[in-house]
Amino acid sequence: MSQFWKPGSEKPRLLDDEEGGVLFYSASASSSSGFGYSNIEKQRQRLPVYKYRTAILYLVETHATTIIVGETGSGKTTQIPQYLKEAGWADGGRVIACTQPRRLAVQAVASRVAEEMGVKLGEEVGYTIRFEDLSKTGVTMVKFLTDGVLLREMMDDPLLTKYSVIMVDEAHERSLSTDILLGLLKKIQRRRPELRLIISSATIEAKSMSTFFQTRKRRGLEGEESGPRTDPAILSVEGRGFNVQIHHIEEPVPDYLQAAVSTVLSIHEQEPMGDILVFLTGENDIDAAVQLLNEEAQNNGKHSSGLVVLPLYSGLSRADQDLVFSPTPRGKRKVVISTNIAETSLTLEGIVYVVDSGFSKQRFYNPISDIENLVVAPISKASARQRAGRAGRVRPGKCYRLYTEEYFVNEMSAHAIPEMQRSNLVSCVIQLKALGIDNILGFDWPASPSPEAMIRALEVLYSLGVLDDDAKLTSPLGFQVAEIPLDPMISKTILSSNQLGCSEEIITIAAILSVQSIWVSARGAQRELDEAKMRFAAAEGDHVTYLSVYKGFIQSGKSSQWCYKNFINYHAMKKVIEIREQLRRIAQRLGIVLKSCERDMEVVRKAVTAGFFANACCLEAHSQGGMYKTIRSAQEVYIHPSSVLFRVNPKWIIYNSLVSTDRQYMRNVISIDPSWLMEAAPHFYRQQRNPIAS
Ligand code: CDP
Ligand code: MG
Repeated sequence: MSQFWKPGSEKPRLLDDEEGGVLFYSASASSSSGFGYSNIEKQRQRLPVYKYRTAILYLVETHATTIIVGETGSGKTTQIPQYLKEAGWADGGRVIACTQPRRLAVQAVASRVAEEMGVKLGEEVGYTIRFEDLSKTGVTMVKFLTDGVLLREMMDDPLLTKYSVIMVDEAHERSLSTDILLGLLKKIQRRRPELRLIISSATIEAKSMSTFFQTRKRRGLEGEESGPRTDPAILSVEGRGFNVQIHHIEEPVPDYLQAAVSTVLSIHEQEPMGDILVFLTGENDIDAAVQLLNEEAQNNGKHSSGLVVLPLYSGLSRADQDLVFSPTPRGKRKVVISTNIAETSLTLEGIVYVVDSGFSKQRFYNPISDIENLVVAPISKASARQRAGRAGRVRPGKCYRLYTEEYFVNEMSAHAIPEMQRSNLVSCVIQLKALGIDNILGFDWPASPSPEAMIRALEVLYSLGVLDDDAKLTSPLGFQVAEIPLDPMISKTILSSNQLGCSEEIITIAAILSVQSIWVSARGAQRELDEAKMRFAAAEGDHVTYLSVYKGFIQSGKSSQWCYKNFINYHAMKKVIEIREQLRRIAQRLGIVLKSCERDMEVVRKAVTAGFFANACCLEAHSQGGMYKTIRSAQEVYIHPSSVLFRVNPKWIIYNSLVSTDRQYMRNVISIDPSWLMEAAPHFYRQQRNPIAS
């Protein structure tokens, strides 16, 4: 490895490894080891945050807002809500909330805290994520939830009155929902001085947060003694990280996936025991790396025997998540291959080596072309440091960066851009409107979105019929769209299906589009997967194909064997059934008549057009792999190879989302008749150079 890697000159970080640093390093210290209560208690007291318990409680008592910065793994997420509960913040039926940007983190952290408190998950400690509520009104005292779900709760209870303390966790991530939430919480605080906020974060950007929450003295309250101070308190929790030796690669690698796999194998061959955490970007490259490492184990056992290779990403089933957190079997070395979810949201015990690809999947939005996609893009220096830090949890560790030191120093940006400034704002605008915030441009944002993006969002919502000429929500459509916890385009599709008489079908499609993918990854059998898809493929496109899959699944009696045979993800299908039930309930509440259109797929396609007209494309050239152009902005786009319409290339289509790799690929595509576009959105298409007329 030495000729391949050179140690970096970056200064060792933090690092007090005096007393008892290795306390955490033993397989049995992990969560599912059947430890008794007192041991859990001891473990809790060893966390860095424990020393600050009194200080935290004092600051929360005396300040409206407390900002807490602390190294990942110091105990912020799992401990602070418990301290608050112990101090009585959940007495009298009040609830302590802790938000996370990621669903998987919500589940993992809630179950950890329930375990530490010795209670059943869903009772005193509960969680809520979209389409999954494991909390009980009147019983749950500590509730973990995504920031998006808390925003939704505001629609029913604008002042969030049931919460005594709201901890906005992982604030450094600056997710879109976190930023909207911060803006709204600041408003709520003015109306509810007794509400306490905790903003917690892994990196030290506390100053800008503090400035944001600096409020002018409330009029009429000057000189008043009671009530918390309105200026935010800042507390920094000393971490207990160990020295991490950083190695950069000498020459840029052409393929980070291959490089990651061979780095894992070299670590395994040459370095002492200790688990490895690899940062890749998404389900696909993670599954590919897992497969490569497992193949290596089969073919060439001597390099890889003793490796336990596990994926970690948000679409994982509960059983697979548990594997990641369970202790490494004696004599084995665990390799966890993860998205950036393991960067700060989740702490894995026992990691000594980190392999950092230098990339993550990020959302980018271009308001000019109105195209948003998920792209694999370079991470920031702040992220790179966080990733390296994961190696120093239990003892001194090593981080292998698959990029050069020169690249790190000169090319990587210091911090990531807040998601607010690189997202499509359609959902954000409709949520604020539904909360009665009319002056969106004048809203007090932690980071202002671009006016172009805002205008684009208003335009789309206007053409969907959700906003009126005064940019107010229309009644009933606008309010109904806001009520459905889905992207406004899909919500509009559901509402349109009511008149078209195909609500059952559209709700099924909406449920399927809400899960990651209903197909299993190819397991090295791409041809078989393609053949399986062909058994369900419909000429109209992916949406109609999904309907046949769903029908087949129901006819099989929801059989897991049927799924296995057809390359369909059984867990995803079970989730689809659940989501579908919830959407049906929401639809009924909104007065939608549940009705099936039986075999008439034209109405299904019309309903999709009513919501997604802005994503219409026309085939330009059959050659070059079927190049399409978007009608809206004449962008070059292609049908994704995973679509049943790949190579079929109908002239007019609508897509659900774009992914960008070497090209812009459209996923979930359906063929349409162009005349439906004018019907669905006359305003929208009237001003375009009208290619439909030709
Ligand atoms: O939020 P922060 O990163 O500061 O730390 P945390 O998530 O509260 O984690 C505190 C400790 O609990 C860590 O040492 C984790 O290893 C442990 N933990 C765990 O063992 N299993 C979990 N599912 C979550 C946390
Ligand atoms: Mg945390």
